[in-house]
Amino acid sequence: MVRRTELPKYTVPSLTIEDGARIAAILQQRLNALNDLALTLKHIHWNVTGPHFIAVHEMIDPQVDAVRAMVDAVAERIATLGVAPVGTPGALVADRSWDDYAIGRAGAIEHLGALDEVYVGVITDHREAAAATEDLDTVTNDLLVGHLHELELFHWFVRAHLESAGGELSTAGADTEKEAARSAGAAAKGAAAR
Ligand SMILES: [Fe+2]
Repeated sequence: MVRRTELPKYTVPSLTIEDGARIAAILQQRLNALNDLALTLKHIHWNVTGPHFIAVHEMIDPQVDAVRAMVDAVAERIATLGVAPVGTPGALVADRSWDDYAIGRAGAIEHLGALDEVYVGVITDHREAAAATEDLDTVTNDLLVGHLHELELFHWFVRAHLESAGGELSTAGADTEKEAARSAGAAAKGAAAR
């Protein structure tokens, strides 16, 4: 529910003020998630170790650039809707429903296992936000669907490292980043020993 005091003074033409506020609130959650993702991707870029270091280190940076562009577009859409976007780290942490990324310095495959989990969370919520805006505001819906084209492609780049020749993911069944990292690491060790 949007409180009266939070309603914008104007919004984009043809939307009601209430719908403008509702869409901006959905987008604020996506702004938090994408800002968090951009920082998490850089954290992985810096903490990845082992023989696949350079491949993963270099794969991550174009994803950071793309996600930062998404952050900017989402924040500016919120402003366009007449609402002030909140981009400060304290507000992000206070508002988010997920924990900090759980892995520090670790092997490339372990990080990719955990990153698989991260993308599952971000993409699931982004798809929900896209569905929620489909009837309310086609322009916001189009923005979010555009992000999903890229996010789901990046998710496949990650999963391709975790996939067996038979098409199975080493992270299948994992629910947490640590669990996914462990499963991915164990599968990679098993494959190397064979
Ligand atoms: Fe760098």
